[in-house]
Amino acid sequence: MENFGRLVKDFPEQYLTCFKAYKASIEKKDRDNFNHFYRSTALDAILCDSGTDARVLGIGSGSGEVDSIILKKLLQRHNSVYNRVVEPAEDLIERYKARVREDTSLQAVEFDWRQQTAEEYFLTEEPVTTTFNLVHAVHVLYHVKDLHATLRNMWEQLADGGHMVVQIKSDNGVGGRLYDKMWEHFGEGDRLKSVFRMSCDIKEWLDNMGIGYDTSEEDTNINVTECFKENSETGMRLLEFFTLTPYIANEPELRSTVLEYIRNNSSVVGDQVYFKSVSEVVVAHKKQ
Ligand SMILES: C[S@@+](CC[C@H](N)C(=O)[O-])C[C@H]1O[C@@H](n2cnc3c(N)ncnc32)[C@H](O)[C@@H]1O
Repeated sequence: MENFGRLVKDFPEQYLTCFKAYKASIEKKDRDNFNHFYRSTALDAILCDSGTDARVLGIGSGSGEVDSIILKKLLQRHNSVYNRVVEPAEDLIERYKARVREDTSLQAVEFDWRQQTAEEYFLTEEPVTTTFNLVHAVHVLYHVKDLHATLRNMWEQLADGGHMVVQIKSDNGVGGRLYDKMWEHFGEGDRLKSVFRMSCDIKEWLDNMGIGYDTSEEDTNINVTECFKENSETGMRLLEFFTLTPYIANEPELRSTVLEYIRNNSSVVGDQVYFKSVSEVVVAHKKQ
């Protein structure tokens, strides 16, 4: 299947439309608690010691929704925060800049904007001269070309005593098992070379490197009722988001496999159908 898993890389505008449909379908209570980990005290424990200057590297920061939560926490105990943003999408980085202009509480942060992919960034940036106390990639590592090389590069830019935070789909939830099922039916070759990556892939790399980490899970309930309506635009965009595949209407086998899986793994409340997506936050610690 030619376009299987190619939504983000080859159809970025359509991906944004799908991402919007996904966000709008998140159940209200989860939307309010979205990015729970970053708001929780769990994050406080990994932020760098107060008094020092905090240096943060965000990979694939998008429009800065998660970044700004992290930065505001850091500003509670640091006078000075330097934040380097590596984000390839022009419209997203512009939205992030607009957020910073409008949100006066972020004015104390020094931003260093890099409109680049992670691959472009790590090609040019020497880890020896540049280190960060916190390096994060939130729902990004599906999209980088070489997962292990990116993790290695992120780790090398981390200062001693620093933390690397990766959030990604959990292999332990129904969404992760959907990735396995799709790959089993429609994938070819090494899954790690595809976008269908999960938290087990991150933990395996860390285990092989002998790096210690903690993890926590975040549940998101998505209203998937529209997916079961034959001509629903929203339903199509959601299915494209779940499969990371554009023009799902042209892929009847993929569509029916995914719909069947979702039907069997969702809960029905009244006339609404909810599918639970689980993501995992992996926090790796670099020794002093
Ligand atoms: C699902 S969004 C996550 C955005 C943000 N981290 C958040 O959680 O709100 C994925 C992001 O990865 C970015 N991205 C895609 N390919 C990338 C690459 N090769 N290197 C760095 N970022 C990439 C996209 O532009 C997009 O902003």
